[in-house]
Amino acid sequence: MAIETFEGLADTLGQENPARDRPVVCVQGLGFVGVAMAIAVADARNTRGEPRFNVVGVELPNPDGKGKVEAINAGRMPMANSDVRLHEALERARREGNLVATTDASAYGLASITLVDIQLDVENRGDRPSVDFTGLRAAIRTLGESMPRGSLVIVETTVPPGTCTHVVAPELESALATRGLPVDSILLAHAYERVMPGAEYLDSIINFWHVYAGHSPAAADACEAFLSRVINVDKFPLTRLMSTTASETAKVLENSYRATNIAFMEEWGRFGEAVGIDIFEIVEAIRVRPTHDNIRQPGFGVGGYCLTKDPYLADIGAREFFGHEGLDFPFSHTAVGINKAMPYVSVRQVEALLGGQLDQKEILLLGVSYRRDVGDTRYGPSESFVREAEARGARVSCHDPLVEYWPEMDRHLPGEIPSARGFDAVVFAVPHGAYAEIDLEGWLAGATPLVFDANAVLSLAQRKAFRNLGCEVASIGRGRNCE
Ligand SMILES: NC(=O)c1ccc[n+]([C@@H]2O[C@H](COP(=O)([O-])OP(=O)(O)OC[C@H]3O[C@@H](n4cnc5c(N)ncnc54)[C@H](O)[C@@H]3O)[C@@H](O)[C@H]2O)c1
Repeated sequence: MAIETFEGLADTLGQENPARDRPVVCVQGLGFVGVAMAIAVADARNTRGEPRFNVVGVELPNPDGKGKVEAINAGRMPMANSDVRLHEALERARREGNLVATTDASAYGLASITLVDIQLDVENRGDRPSVDFTGLRAAIRTLGESMPRGSLVIVETTVPPGTCTHVVAPELESALATRGLPVDSILLAHAYERVMPGAEYLDSIINFWHVYAGHSPAAADACEAFLSRVINVDKFPLTRLMSTTASETAKVLENSYRATNIAFMEEWGRFGEAVGIDIFEIVEAIRVRPTHDNIRQPGFGVGGYCLTKDPYLADIGAREFFGHEGLDFPFSHTAVGINKAMPYVSVRQVEALLGGQLDQKEILLLGVSYRRDVGDTRYGPSESFVREAEARGARVSCHDPLVEYWPEMDRHLPGEIPSARGFDAVVFAVPHGAYAEIDLEGWLAGATPLVFDANAVLSLAQRKAFRNLGCEVASIGRGRNCE
């Protein structure tokens, strides 16, 4: 039976205090973006301090989707994260009774607004990348079949420029036609998140600048009105762009810029190592120039769901929607390739430092997520490191304070950092806060493995302490003679 009211849905889910009489916002997809968005929207308050919206997170009825729904309905985050404020906001939503989750798509029938936060994978991450729109089309169709007249769809998924115009709008229109409704019965807008999972997860949504555009002026106005109720727009004003294609492009361009900036530093890391200087020290010296303050630094590699694929999306949009076969994106494409190759540099350096071969060597890899203080392992460089080192004969043990199970490698990881004894090398790959707090002497317990800092994880004091305890220490981006 179709869901008829928010209160009824909340009631069936055992919410003690189901909220009523507020506009309902559905969030389609409870992944890293959707979960945080659902909580942020549920936490938005009016001037009297009351919640503005009732929020329903909607997932697919598969085991993963059901797990996420169960977690939200039980007041738990579906994924590990270190942002206390996000946990507190989830608690508040539970107390207010204004956030629930379901796999029942009839919930969209309640929605004044639906935020589309589903994934869109890039396939064949090679020369001719492509996107399969089947999942996105189906998701949008569901909205067109059930959302009320006058409601608003905001696509937040990162898509090839042109997608809202050439895929989303036609799919919505065709679904509306089956209901005998005119094309403008549901408004369509694009906005994007710059969400940063980690310690500032919630702030990266509500205390951050947003860019948006409407498929029509009315949709742009409606999107602006919604974002203004959730985001701290007094301090972080919104930017409206001329079209959804422009807004889609802004997201793709800013991520391509960042991926390229990171890739650019890779060759300078090799240079620093070769000539015996510390590139991190140099980068700090350069960053004092306001024009250069976001220059990146050498590292272990780039992972996560965004920077590894977004630089391909403009190329796909140009070909798929605008018939431009000849537009090249050499910087963006090369950046992805360079970033992907980075962890192999660490494998080769560790191999050289261990006498030129890894066969039978025991390596401890500290950090398998793609970013500090985040439990997301998607497309992480640690996966490439482990596969390559093991292909060369090493045995690699892994730890990550935020990852109990590593799905890409089908490995369960220990909760505690394994003792350093018995390892030929310890590789610090991710600058998780927990690694700054290791009692080095107690942990080493007399062992003297090679310590390899692949990602500026260790402080100068830690590197010195390791050396004083008898370990050889080497770093990506620093010559051997550097401290
Ligand atoms: N991860 C980030 O930090 C980040 C930041 C900014 C933007 N983005 C973009 O946001 C989008 C989502 O990213 P993510 O990391 O949250 O992805 P994700 O894979 O973690 O989550 C997507 C979720 O959508 C669900 N889903 C798919 N189809 C659905 C449907 N028809 N109905 C309901 N649920 C459905 C999936 O089951 C999954 O749980 C992507 O386009 C990504 O590029 C991600």
